[in-house]
Order: sequence, then C-alpha cells, then structure tokens
Amino acid sequence: MNGPPQVDPPNPEIYQLMGEENMFRLLHDVYDEFANSSIKDMFPTDPEGLAEAADKSACFFVGLCGGPPLYHQRYGNPMLRRRHFPFPIDMNSRDVWLACFLKVLKNPQDYNFPEQHLDSFIGFIAGFSPWMVNKE
Ligand code: HEM
Repeated sequence: MNGPPQVDPPNPEIYQLMGEENMFRLLHDVYDEFANSSIKDMFPTDPEGLAEAADKSACFFVGLCGGPPLYHQRYGNPMLRRRHFPFPIDMNSRDVWLACFLKVLKNPQDYNFPEQHLDSFIGFIAGFSPWMVNKE
C-alpha cells in the first residue's frame, strides 16, 4: 500500500457526546477482547501492562474522535505504522483486531456512543486498519 488510505476521520461529535471516561472504558473493553482473541500474544499478558496499553490507545482515539490531542501531548507523534512494525500483522490479524472493536461496539449505549455515528467510526477503523498490515 502506498501511503495511508484516504478515509474520513470519525465524526467529531463522537467525543463531544461520549467524553474522556467513556472513551477510555471503551478502549479498555476492546483491549480485554484482544487479550481473549487469537492475536492475544501481541499484547501485554499482565493486567497492568494491558491496562497501560489500553490507556495509550484511548488517548489516541480521544483525539481522533474530536477530543483534545492527548496522545500527542503525552507520547508525541504517533507514527502509527512504524510503531506497529515490531508486530507481524497480516490481514487475518487485522480482521481479528476489527472484530474485537465490532464486538464491543455492539453495545454502544454502554459507553454513551452516539449510534448515529457508528457508521462513521467503523468506516474509519475498517478503512484505515489495513495500513497497519505489514506481513503477507
Ligand atoms: C490492523 C490491526 C492492528 C493490530 C493487530 C494492532 C496491534 C497493536 C499492538 C500489538 C500494539 C502494541 C501494544 C499496545 O500498546 O497496544 C498496538 C499499539 C497501538 N495501536 Fe494498534 N493495531 C492495529 C491497528 C491499529 C489502528 C488501525 C490504530 C489506529 C487507528 C491503532 C492504534 C494503536 C495505538 C495508538 C497504539 C499505541 C502505540 C504506542 O504508543 O505504543 N492500531 N497496536
């Protein structure tokens, strides 16, 4: 793939309506799904490590969904593709990764996630995630 896929970012109302706490909770639940999936070996195995990883991702998703740029403020430039290089990610891993998100997003009301913007969010993660694939 030559350069990141050109997909629209999620609707910024998502963060406005959810707020930080809901977004962090959502990402923690997604990381719990990762830890119970066939790609679990890529993620920290201890609960504290997993929670820290979920926090980092939550910071990124806050900014992505219209909130303050927490990831940039706390950790600098995300350089996402490069940060994923240590992990061999094929298209199957991407499908599992996406399925973990979709499972959690089946209950948007648990996070005050605005259902009218689910398509915009899922469209982004589905369209952007192949950019992290680095292995055939
Ligand atoms: C294609 C499937 C993907 C897989 C298998 C995957 C896997 C991983 C793994 C193993 C890590 C390191 C552990 C951690 O800190 O969470 C990570 C970090 C991260 N991922 Fe992904 N990822 C994928 C796609 C994405 C996408 C599409 C995004 C953003 C839209 C994303 C955002 C992040 C962020 C922000 C981090 C933390 C980076 C850091 O500071 O270390 N990932 N991912």
